[in-house]
Amino acid sequence: MRLVFMGLPGAGKGTQAKLLHEHFRIVHISTGDMIRERIRSGTPTGLKAEPYVACGDLVPDAIMVDMVIERLGEPDARAGFLLDGFPRTQAQAEALDRSLAAAGHTLDAVIVLDVPDDTVVDRLSGRRTCGNPNCQANYHVRTIPPKIEGKCDRCGSTLLQRDDDKPEAIRRRLQQYHRQTEEVAKYYGTRGVVSKVSGVGSVEMVHQRLREVLVNKGCSA
Ligand code: AP5
Repeated sequence: MRLVFMGLPGAGKGTQAKLLHEHFRIVHISTGDMIRERIRSGTPTGLKAEPYVACGDLVPDAIMVDMVIERLGEPDARAGFLLDGFPRTQAQAEALDRSLAAAGHTLDAVIVLDVPDDTVVDRLSGRRTCGNPNCQANYHVRTIPPKIEGKCDRCGSTLLQRDDDKPEAIRRRLQQYHRQTEEVAKYYGTRGVVSKVSGVGSVEMVHQRLREVLVNKGCSA
């Protein structure tokens, strides 16, 4: 299955994609995680991307397209993938189409995780992420708190707040989504491949909804 996962920043894409990966063994490709890894490692791509990410702007298309197309060419992604955070612009969507067409593939589905703006602001402001790059478990200070404040339940590392989860960056990210990424959802909508799924409710409730949609599309565990 070749899937694109869309939704406002903080809609729960990363949380749900990890669960879908565990359930269906589908390869999860998160462009946010890929960019943050390059920033942490100080690669040339990371250095170029860092100022955009920190203030909540989109990283230029040329950087993102090259990075994603290269990743999709790796052996584990050839049979299918769940693409989380890409495409976010029309240019990225068209580049993905060209790359898939060149390999004789098309997208099977685009899932839009639907959550209101005020809910995502609350989710992002309270998000804490494990600082261990090999873990990166996600928490929320109120709704999904760790057992020991500030420490990851899985590995005990310190929990951090992302720079782009500060109020001004959250505002910019929401603007970018409404201005650019909603157009991409409309573009896929004209092809009849979009399934809108409510992201409101507990993590487990949303996971069950997504599982049903994917099973109906032919995914099996
Ligand atoms: P990226 O990391 O993709 O950020 P995003 O889309 O803004 O998504 P988030 O990771 O913030 O949220 P999410 O939907 O994954 O929610 P999560 O599961 O964490 O991108 C970061 C940056 O990289 C971009 O701003 C841009 O600069 C750059 N970038 C990446 N891709 C790009 C591209 N294609 N083009 C250009 N630039 C690009 O959940 C959020 C919180 O809510 C957590 O605390 C979680 O615990 C909690 N939560 C989740 N589900 C629930 C629930 N059901 N109930 C209660 N709380 C919940």
